[in-house]
Amino acid sequence: MSDGGAEAEAVRAWVDVHPPADEQRGEGAVELLRRAGLDARRPGHGTRDDPGVLLFAAADDALTARLARLAGGGLHRVLAVALTRSALDGSGPWPLLRAGASDVLAWDASATPAEDVVRRLRRWSAVDRLVASPLVADNLVGAGATWQLLLREIVETAVFSDASVLVTGESGTGKELVARLVHAIDPRRGGEQLVLLDCTTIVPSLAGSEFFGHEKGAFTGALASRDGAFALADRGTLFLDEVGELPPELQAELLRVVQEGTYKRVGGNTWRTTGFRLICATNRDLLAVDGDRRFRPDLYHRIAAWTCRLPSLRERTEDILPLARHFLREERQDDGPSSTAEDFDPAVQRFLTERHYPGNIRELRQLVGRMARRHVGSGPIGAGDVPPGERPTGTAPDASATADGWPDPAFQRSIRRALASGICLKEIGVRARETAVDLALQEADGNLQDAARALGVTDRALQLRRRASGTGPTDGVRED
Ligand SMILES: Nc1ncnc2c1ncn2[C@@H]1O[C@H](COP(=O)(O)OP(=O)(O)OP(=O)(O)O)[C@@H](O)[C@H]1O
Ligand SMILES: [Mg+2]
Repeated sequence: MSDGGAEAEAVRAWVDVHPPADEQRGEGAVELLRRAGLDARRPGHGTRDDPGVLLFAAADDALTARLARLAGGGLHRVLAVALTRSALDGSGPWPLLRAGASDVLAWDASATPAEDVVRRLRRWSAVDRLVASPLVADNLVGAGATWQLLLREIVETAVFSDASVLVTGESGTGKELVARLVHAIDPRRGGEQLVLLDCTTIVPSLAGSEFFGHEKGAFTGALASRDGAFALADRGTLFLDEVGELPPELQAELLRVVQEGTYKRVGGNTWRTTGFRLICATNRDLLAVDGDRRFRPDLYHRIAAWTCRLPSLRERTEDILPLARHFLREERQDDGPSSTAEDFDPAVQRFLTERHYPGNIRELRQLVGRMARRHVGSGPIGAGDVPPGERPTGTAPDASATADGWPDPAFQRSIRRALASGICLKEIGVRARETAVDLALQEADGNLQDAARALGVTDRALQLRRRASGTGPTDGVRED
């Protein structure tokens, strides 16, 4: 797939120069961008979703703050382009990426900078179109920033690379769904099949045949020759679910096939070739040594050319209601058109968002199914539709609670979980502060002054804390 599909098609973006006093210095670059096919607008003269190009002469604090404001945590794509490489001297591109820039380029680092910029914007536009398409948006539901940013990565990797993909995440977070999506949108797999092997169900004595196939008479009961997963997946995708359960002998065999694309059927002497995209999923840390169990590191690096960690539902609580609505719509279609109720009443919405989901999205789906089946009539799903065993037990009013009910039960549950997982008071404090800073910045659309006001600290203090960060905008936040 070419970036953007139609190479000749102009790509639209706003273009601006930072600092504004340097506008003249950027004029030449803007003209070259136009000639390379960019429909360049002034900021604010397109739609809010248009990507932007911010040309800059100096990477200073004002630039980082502006980027944070424009990028909204990375959801709005901004390409930061240094007019000269020297503009990135000092701390380099990292603070700009941390502030939310989607990419950083230097104009004089390439012989064709304008074309490079336009190519990058075309790629983004192709990815965003696919992310918004029904194939993706109606299958992998979620509107929150965490999920949308992850979807972009998944789509970009699936479409623009042939890399093997390792999908990790707790049970019920959507690993299989992601594997199916990668196969469905991979343009190299057109029409070929996705072969799924669940490594937890492999019977050791039949494993060779499952993977490699066998020749007639290879073992008792082998009445005819048969293709295995490697042959069936040729030109398509092989999805190894729960790959952490793959026995050590098979790990060695798989390594050879993945590296060389050759294998022999059980009982056969002929080398056969195959080529497939490999997608693996696991809910455990494959690099961790578990007793005497250890996943081969060489195989790990082959299967994990790109890794994708799916967040648990507690890391994306903003998606609980959109997901619940999606599952309710699915249930309603199954039940026929008689039910016209559209939604959940406010008490149920609160119950759904505050509840704990150890089984993640699968658990939410099952819960919505149970509520939908109890529901009668055309009104919204109400508290009475929540199965009795599921209902909140009620907590004693907390004397320290503020007028608007904070800290609420969800907060207490989160702290209880942290304590149960052995997380100490110091760590809880650090996390709470980091989360407060992140949320305040998000709420303020990246505006440092507004965020500082909401947090009750000075702009300077907030800026210093963010700059102290080594790995993220809020790392290293300390109490005064
Ligand atoms: N983003 C999503 N949008 C809609 N449905 C989802 C999403 N993620 C997961 N689901 C649904 O949740 C259920 C669990 O998803 P899936 O089987 O892909 O999870 P998993 O990570 O493979 O779980 P396990 O580790 O238990 O095998 C499925 O019914 C799936 O359709
Ligand atoms: Mg699964």
